[in-house]
Amino acid sequence: MTTQLQELLDSNRLWAAKTEQRSPGFFTGLLKQQAPQYLWIGCADSRVPANELVDLLPGELFVHRNVANVVVHSDLNCLSVIQFATDLLKVKHIIVVGHSHCGGVVAALNDVRVGLADNWIRHVRDVRNRHQEWLATLPAEQQVDALGELNVIEQAKNVCQTTVVQDTWARGQALVVHGWFYGLNNGLLRDLKITVPNAADMAGAFDEAIASLHARHALKTDSVRGSLSGPELAPALAPAFARGAPRQSR
Ligand code: CO
Repeated sequence: MTTQLQELLDSNRLWAAKTEQRSPGFFTGLLKQQAPQYLWIGCADSRVPANELVDLLPGELFVHRNVANVVVHSDLNCLSVIQFATDLLKVKHIIVVGHSHCGGVVAALNDVRVGLADNWIRHVRDVRNRHQEWLATLPAEQQVDALGELNVIEQAKNVCQTTVVQDTWARGQALVVHGWFYGLNNGLLRDLKITVPNAADMAGAFDEAIASLHARHALKTDSVRGSLSGPELAPALAPAFARGAPRQSR
């Protein structure tokens, strides 16, 4: 194994030269200030590179990423990013972005032990347990992304409930919280319809987003079941938590 990462350093030199060639003065311009309009809170997954997905340049997107895009009320790291973004940079939008086929969500759904990270993923398990009755109505193949989407909506609500965001709204500063879901299979972002421009709208937006998610998955379920017949139907309808999920630990 090489101890040097020369190929990455070489790529960096090439990238810097190309960027400067395309827009002369690009880097010296960034020195003066960063004025991003958006804070992206996404998964650490290497397949979900924030800036690239929305085609934004350095300086245009403030980014925080962790396993399974979780926003914990006492996570000083995430809270500090939100505070810096809203108080100092005055971003106009905070977007929580989950993605399909998320390893953290799969582990949470199926109670897979992965190590220390179990304690972090526990927050996604809490989301699963809050919504397990609904999740259990879905075909197994739909459950991972359904939980991933639920997780985005719940974490977006957590963003709204931070003291930082509550204070931002209280002083009349414009800030909208959003929840999106990225499809690894097609490269597309979906708006999960949790769009919160102030404290008063939070509960309504949350309920609306959950209702919209339920409706979309009901359509999907119908089309999956419509294409099946007879005994084939049974496995798709198998209870989701037959794998021994801790039902009682809600
Ligand atoms: Co992920």
